[in-house]
Amino acid sequence: MNSSPLADRTLLVTGASSGIGRALCEKLVDRGANVLGAGRDPARMPEGVHGLRVDLTKREEIHSLFQQLGRVDALVNCAGIAYLSRIIDGNPTDWEEMWRVNVMALSICCQLALRHFPARGGRIVNVSSMSGHRVPPTGGFYAPTKFAVRGITEALRLELKAIGSPVQAACVSPGFVDTPLLDNYFRGREDVLQETRQTMTMLKPEDVADAILTILEAPAHVEIGDILLRSADQRA
Ligand SMILES: NC(=O)c1ccc[n+]([C@@H]2O[C@H](COP(=O)([O-])OP(=O)(O)OC[C@H]3O[C@@H](n4cnc5c(N)ncnc54)[C@H](OP(=O)(O)O)[C@@H]3O)[C@@H](O)[C@H]2O)c1
Repeated sequence: MNSSPLADRTLLVTGASSGIGRALCEKLVDRGANVLGAGRDPARMPEGVHGLRVDLTKREEIHSLFQQLGRVDALVNCAGIAYLSRIIDGNPTDWEEMWRVNVMALSICCQLALRHFPARGGRIVNVSSMSGHRVPPTGGFYAPTKFAVRGITEALRLELKAIGSPVQAACVSPGFVDTPLLDNYFRGREDVLQETRQTMTMLKPEDVADAILTILEAPAHVEIGDILLRSADQRA
């Protein structure tokens, strides 16, 4: 018998094709949840996930995605991009893509998902980062997008309280997680990534998925605001 409170619940996960989102989807399927994965390539999503094609840089595609949906009990915004792109000389085209996916798409998904929650409420979990708590020297434009995720989640939480909504909003804020995202973040500095991998046991996507599950499976009277987690080997 599946004892998870998520059994038979419907959860929408963005970024379901890779990394943290993919690991989370696998765990949700194991728990007997009805998992809707949103992303550009449903074929790359794990078995048992109902894949929905969407390019999150395109606002009209996000609206079309939600038009297909019925009840949603939880939304987890995992999709994100991390280009190494400094303020002093980074390419604004990279900034724009990061802003669209990490901030705009996440916010629009939050807004649209609210129309699909049942009267008993549900949960929204947004993946921020330790780079949303302090700016690393190489954080560039990525770190501010993750500060924005925390700000948006707190604004949403307060707005939901103000209207008496039972929907909860939370963040998770991981340090380095060994996923393909790091290949972008370390592009041109592959030696640094290799050294980081050799000297540090990074978080695995499953570790972050477990933190998200802690939020999703908490009793309804427990509202978790943010979970900060980093590898025990990561100093800052
Ligand atoms: N890895 C880390 O060290 C780390 C640390 C802290 C926070 N985070 C955050 O964790 C979240 C997940 O990242 P990850 O590490 O799991 O990276 P990942 O393995 O690269 O996964 C990123 C996901 O975002 C999706 N995505 C990107 N652009 C998209 C678009 N335009 N439309 C639809 N989907 C799009 C990707 O889909 P495609 O397969 O279609 O590209 C992929 O499924 C991100 O928000 C990231 O900022 C990561």
